[in-house]
Amino acid sequence: MGSATERDMTHEVLAQLLAERTGQDLSPSRRWRVETALSALLRESDATTIDELVAKLTSPFGCPLSSRVADALLNNETYFFRDQQVFDVLAKSALPKLIAQRQDKRRLSIWCVGCSTGQEPLSLSMLLAERAAMLDDWQINIVATDVSHRAIDVARRGVYTPFEAQRGLGIERMIRWFEEVDGRWKVSPRLLKPIRYQQHNALHAPPMGSPFDLVLCRNVLLYFDKPTRQQVFSQIAASLADDGMLLLGAGETPVGQTARFAPVKDLTGFYCLGTPDMPEARPRTAEVPARG
Ligand SMILES: C[S@@+](CC[C@H](N)C(=O)[O-])C[C@H]1O[C@@H](n2cnc3c(N)ncnc32)[C@H](O)[C@@H]1O
Repeated sequence: MGSATERDMTHEVLAQLLAERTGQDLSPSRRWRVETALSALLRESDATTIDELVAKLTSPFGCPLSSRVADALLNNETYFFRDQQVFDVLAKSALPKLIAQRQDKRRLSIWCVGCSTGQEPLSLSMLLAERAAMLDDWQINIVATDVSHRAIDVARRGVYTPFEAQRGLGIERMIRWFEEVDGRWKVSPRLLKPIRYQQHNALHAPPMGSPFDLVLCRNVLLYFDKPTRQQVFSQIAASLADDGMLLLGAGETPVGQTARFAPVKDLTGFYCLGTPDMPEARPRTAEVPARG
């Protein structure tokens, strides 16, 4: 890169682009990643420096490039059964609770916000498929969304490198749910069947399929400032069934951010709808209300 001023201007343009497209904050602590994240795009777009690449964004052909630059700046880190303990709580407590609540309708609708390349919705799909006997005549819908076109394309293909497949998956599950094709691991169509992948920005109105019984939004809010997080919480609150639950990532909480959600008693990481108009009356811990 060029002088310190040029560098600052370049980062300013990139930060603005990322904020406009995704709501994310390109904080100074993330700047070190910029060069690595954009290195493939530099090669593809015949630019030798990031300043040159940024200059191309303002050309008449800059629009598709802008979208690819914003996409490349996103952190898509994910793996199967990320935070195993949370998936244990999902399997042993949260899903059985939701299944009990939906016995009459025999339908479960789940929204996975910021699903990246698909490992999270597939982990969920595995948990549900492994309860096939219990959910035999149920309609299961998992809407899995991400702002990144690139991540959604990978997720739709459902094909993973051996490294990706092994991250979080035991050998039993790999053999049961994947097929090895030309040195890569292709996910079983049975797991993909309940999932509908869609490119979608979490700041916008929720995708089709609401009200959702369960919303996962894990490791997505970390990169937003407080007002943007509040916007995402509002969209999720609008999409959730009255007795539904929200699951956040390990470092994420609505506490001190919004009154729209309150912790679910005894289910760490899970939240139910709070009382937005009377935050002072919001319970410190809340049970998910029984149905019916
Ligand atoms: C670190 S990954 C987490 C993936 C997965 N939820 C997990 O915990 O393993 C964060 C994902 O959020 C997506 N993301 C960032 N901003 C978003 C937005 N405004 N709307 C939807 N997805 C977004 C990114 O593209 C990325 O794939």
